[in-house]
Amino acid sequence: MTPPSSSDRRILSLFPFVLASLLFIGTSRLAIENSRAINGRRRSYPTYSKGRITNARSLTNFSRDEPLFNGCDVFDGRWVLDDVSRPLYKEESCPYLTKQVTCQRNGRPDSLYQKWRWEPYACELPRFDALTLLEMLRGKRLMFVGDSIQRTQWESMVCLLQSVIPDGKKSVHRNPPMKIFRAEDYDASIEFYWAPFIVQSNSDNTRNHTVHKRLVKLDSISKHSDRWKGVDVMVFDSYVWWMYKPIINATTGRLHNVQEYNVTTAYRLALKTWANWLESNINPTTQKVFFMSMSPTHLWSWEWKTGSDENCFNEFYPIWGSSYWGTGSNRDIMGILRDALKELKINVTLLNITQLSEFRKDAHTSVYTERRGKLLTKEQKSDPKNYADCIHWCLPGVPDTWNEILYAFLLYDYPQFS
Ligand SMILES: *[C@@H]1O[C@H](CO)[C@@H](O)[C@H](O)[C@H]1NC(C)=O
Ligand SMILES: *[C@@H]1O[C@H](CO)[C@@H](O)[C@H](O)[C@H]1NC(C)=O
Ligand SMILES: *[C@@H]1O[C@H](CO)[C@@H](O)[C@H](O)[C@H]1NC(C)=O
Ligand SMILES: *[C@@H]1O[C@H](CO)[C@@H](O)[C@H](O)[C@H]1NC(C)=O
Ligand SMILES: *[C@@H]1O[C@H](CO)[C@@H](O)[C@H](O)[C@H]1NC(C)=O
Ligand SMILES: *[C@@H]1O[C@H](CO)[C@@H](O)[C@H](O)[C@H]1NC(C)=O
Repeated sequence: MTPPSSSDRRILSLFPFVLASLLFIGTSRLAIENSRAINGRRRSYPTYSKGRITNARSLTNFSRDEPLFNGCDVFDGRWVLDDVSRPLYKEESCPYLTKQVTCQRNGRPDSLYQKWRWEPYACELPRFDALTLLEMLRGKRLMFVGDSIQRTQWESMVCLLQSVIPDGKKSVHRNPPMKIFRAEDYDASIEFYWAPFIVQSNSDNTRNHTVHKRLVKLDSISKHSDRWKGVDVMVFDSYVWWMYKPIINATTGRLHNVQEYNVTTAYRLALKTWANWLESNINPTTQKVFFMSMSPTHLWSWEWKTGSDENCFNEFYPIWGSSYWGTGSNRDIMGILRDALKELKINVTLLNITQLSEFRKDAHTSVYTERRGKLLTKEQKSDPKNYADCIHWCLPGVPDTWNEILYAFLLYDYPQFS
């Protein structure tokens, strides 16, 4: 075993923090369970009426015969301040947010982080229109598969959609390892499936999973994938759980044959297992598959502010410039992902949101979140070096942009997709 390089040591230093923040991830309760008890206030519905609504019809401009979005790279752009159209929904008007992400309610004093809109250099993202997306999803299932980051994206999508659905016609229920939002009149469901390594592991129980003794079954996926069959749109992610240490215990074949693998090797093997499943189970003419690139972390402020020694706490603005890449986003893993997608015999769309999210050091939950199911105490909040969560994101926030981009891709495909 080679000694860890300095970047490996940084991976190592992720460990204690991530451990604490992810450990009881399945226990996050709906924020509404508390807020209802406190104030029986009626929720208001945000409107999407400001400005022009771009609907599916005007987007038929993007013809399938032309390059995607006429060649516009929607991941290449900048954040612009837009407090007219952002946020896309209000924290207090979405009853399905978990306490983990409701930063305002958890005491975050500033709200500028909610007001940035992603603007690609070469085109404009279509305006998110909940009714259009619901219509596209009529009779369909959209499923997010992955870890707590992915669950935040699911929460974001639910919040983006739920405001246009009247009470009584929508619901969320838990069926571990799943959480399912139903839009009754559309016979549509937006689902989250907890599978932090995509393949099977001893972290698959949403409530009772070990972080110290992770054990990944690199060639086993059917326990999960049996429940993915026939899903119309699948959106995967898997990254942060791999990154505690440069090596990880894993098995192929029989359970007792445990070996330590390089994380990079293990990740490649896991993606291969996933790819094999896709190739024999996905019908590319009726089903769509997306993969979210890694969600960046902002654990070390010296990476963007020379000489400082903090983290994402008290960061109020995005990072400016045309690129920024922190050491938390592992290039080797990105390369493995690229190769895996290239080799696939079906099309999986990579939503490469890493760069755009790298700019957003201001948008993490920081100390305005919970840990092990409890909001941070005053004492913990005053110790951001040990307690700030610079991995997860506040909502409304950055994951809404990921979903706007997902929406753009779905719209582009819509005539074929329906
Ligand atoms: C789409 O096409 C219509 C008519 O051809 C045009 O008026 C409109 O500006 C186009 N929209 C975009 C976003 O290109
Ligand atoms: C959690 O899982 C471990 C090992 O799988 C088991 O021994 C333990 O009893 C479980 N704890 C609870 C509370 O279910
Ligand atoms: C792998 O498992 C063995 C036995 O439980 C343990 O001693 C070792 O520290 C583990 N390695 C890693 C990288 O977790
Ligand atoms: C494990 O990773 C290290 C450092 O990245 C590399 O030098 C080594 O060759 C790898 N070992 C295997 C078996 O892939
Ligand atoms: C994702 O984008 C970054 C730059 O923004 C690039 O370096 C990386 O190679 C891309 N990943 C893949 C898998 O194409
Ligand atoms: C994947 O998509 C590209 C571009 O949309 C298309 O040219 C290609 O035929 C597709 N491949 C498969 C296997 O569907």
